[in-house]
Amino acid sequence: MRMQRIVVLNPKGGSGKTTIAVNLAGYYALQGDRPALIDYDPQASATQWVRKRQPGQPAIHLISTSERDSRVTRAFQLRIPDGTGRIIVDTPAGLDAHDMPELTAQADKILVPVLPSDIDIHACSRCITNLLLVAKVRRSENRLAIIANRVRRNTLMYGSLTRFLETLHIPIVTTLRDSQNYIRGADQGLSLHEMKPHQASEDLESWAPLLAWLDEPSRRAAPAPAARPNLLA
Ligand SMILES: Nc1ncnc2c1ncn2[C@@H]1O[C@H](COP(=O)(O)OP(=O)(O)OP(=O)(O)O)[C@@H](O)[C@H]1O
Ligand SMILES: [Mg+2]
Repeated sequence: MRMQRIVVLNPKGGSGKTTIAVNLAGYYALQGDRPALIDYDPQASATQWVRKRQPGQPAIHLISTSERDSRVTRAFQLRIPDGTGRIIVDTPAGLDAHDMPELTAQADKILVPVLPSDIDIHACSRCITNLLLVAKVRRSENRLAIIANRVRRNTLMYGSLTRFLETLHIPIVTTLRDSQNYIRGADQGLSLHEMKPHQASEDLESWAPLLAWLDEPSRRAAPAPAARPNLLA
């Protein structure tokens, strides 16, 4: 299988980037896809999650860009191991639009999680606009999708976002409910797919359409420009 790069991005803090990135990494590890998780966030939440994992759990190769290991070179620290099937990139809150082109240039799939609040929906619209105009992601490429996160039943707030996305032809690939399983998983270094099925079944259902979309080919108009060494490793 060709190596796939998935970038989880939304400058709005707390929208669910790390939750989605680590749960994807855990799922692909379980599938035997040999994932590498790149943590670009100086707050290093994804890094802490990986460090909580037990020796018996499927391995996730961690690349933490804010941590410096003085025993090895920077290039060695950032290298992707041979045989890696999926690269999942977690990005920080407050990401500048000017950093989006570089972060997304090599991405096969870009996931933007959004919470159901007015402020978050406005921020999401701005993020999408920047991805289209600054990062030049094209809608026809099938690379960009939204995840509605922490949705409680009877949430009506998504109307304006749904209309905005419809006009741009950007899909909402799934809706994740507000669930203690994500909080428990964050505490224990566990992904949803590694929990007991009876505990996670309701949440797992909402991951199926997302995982299916991630396996759809993306249609890149032109080959991505070469990444700058060391930053996108
Ligand atoms: N669907 C969910 N149900 C319950 N809790 C959730 C859900 N998604 C995220 N959370 C919780 O919300 C908080 C913020 O989520 P997360 O850290 O994934 O967001 P983030 O976008 O990575 O934040 P930051 O921008 O600070 O990096 C965390 O405590 C996480 O456990
Ligand atoms: Mg985060």
